[in-house]
Amino acid sequence: MIDVSNLYQNRYGKKTDQNFSKIDITPLINSIISRASVRKFSKKNISKELLTLLLTAAQSAPSKSNLQQYSIMVIQNQSLKNEISKLIGDTKWALTAPVFLLFLADIRRNIKITNHKGYNHKNNNVDTFMNGVIDSALSMQSMISASESIGLGICPISMIRNIIEEVKNLCKLPKGVFPIAGLALGWPDEKSPVSIRLPQDIVTHYNTYNEKNLMDKINQYDERVFKVAPIERNKQRHIDIYGVAKKGTWSENISRQLSVAERKDFKKWLKNHGFSLE
Ligand SMILES: Cc1cc2nc3c(=O)[nH]c(=O)nc-3n(C[C@H](O)[C@H](O)[C@H](O)COP(=O)(O)O)c2cc1C
Repeated sequence: MIDVSNLYQNRYGKKTDQNFSKIDITPLINSIISRASVRKFSKKNISKELLTLLLTAAQSAPSKSNLQQYSIMVIQNQSLKNEISKLIGDTKWALTAPVFLLFLADIRRNIKITNHKGYNHKNNNVDTFMNGVIDSALSMQSMISASESIGLGICPISMIRNIIEEVKNLCKLPKGVFPIAGLALGWPDEKSPVSIRLPQDIVTHYNTYNEKNLMDKINQYDERVFKVAPIERNKQRHIDIYGVAKKGTWSENISRQLSVAERKDFKKWLKNHGFSLE
């Protein structure tokens, strides 16, 4: 039987006094709670049939009004991988995975269908944009959970949005279709540590939003993370601006990251690429 207390402790870096002994969890829940992103893959391939099964899992995710406003691009072609690899800087390891996918928000297909049926599509707006992004994200998560439950490793890749124009051209993404993220998928060649998450009393709010003692709780969280995984110099953000952090904590690092604007032209790019965002 799976030790749930242990799973909890590994995920939060602390014990709970709750008694989970009556809960008999499934291997899938075990896999979800003990997962970690993988950034090193073996050369072993993923069979066509397995990939088909995982794509079926992706498409089994819920979808807003069953509008299914997403697409998935499978990139296996080596020369295309090489092209993307050349552009993506330090993230080139992601293209060494046997399969690299793009999860695409896709409002184009339903615009075409609506017009073909003789109607005017009047929903190219921020709500549809968000629904497409959510659909795409849920399908990615469904594929992630299915993949990890059978021992595959994954890493989502938002770096793809740093080279979005180049990826658009290489993958011939038409207007109304954009990658929310890439996904590196393959058999792991490393055992990644479980990363400690914020405690439930910060993230979960019962009935009303509650920020009580937030910074105290964050300090405690920082300490727990720092004890097992201090953020080393090479992972610290913006050393060029702020210097090496006195203490490589989670809150220091995310604050540094968020203090510098990223992807400033993204909205403009989306607007030029068929998303009106009204
Ligand atoms: C939308 C999204 C984009 C991500 N993009 C990247 C990326 O470009 N490069 C990378 O190394 N990791 C990326 N990650 C992985 C996160 O860094 C990782 O999930 C996080 O550090 C927590 O670690 P864990 O997944 O092992 O629990 C991304 C994750 C998500 C959800």
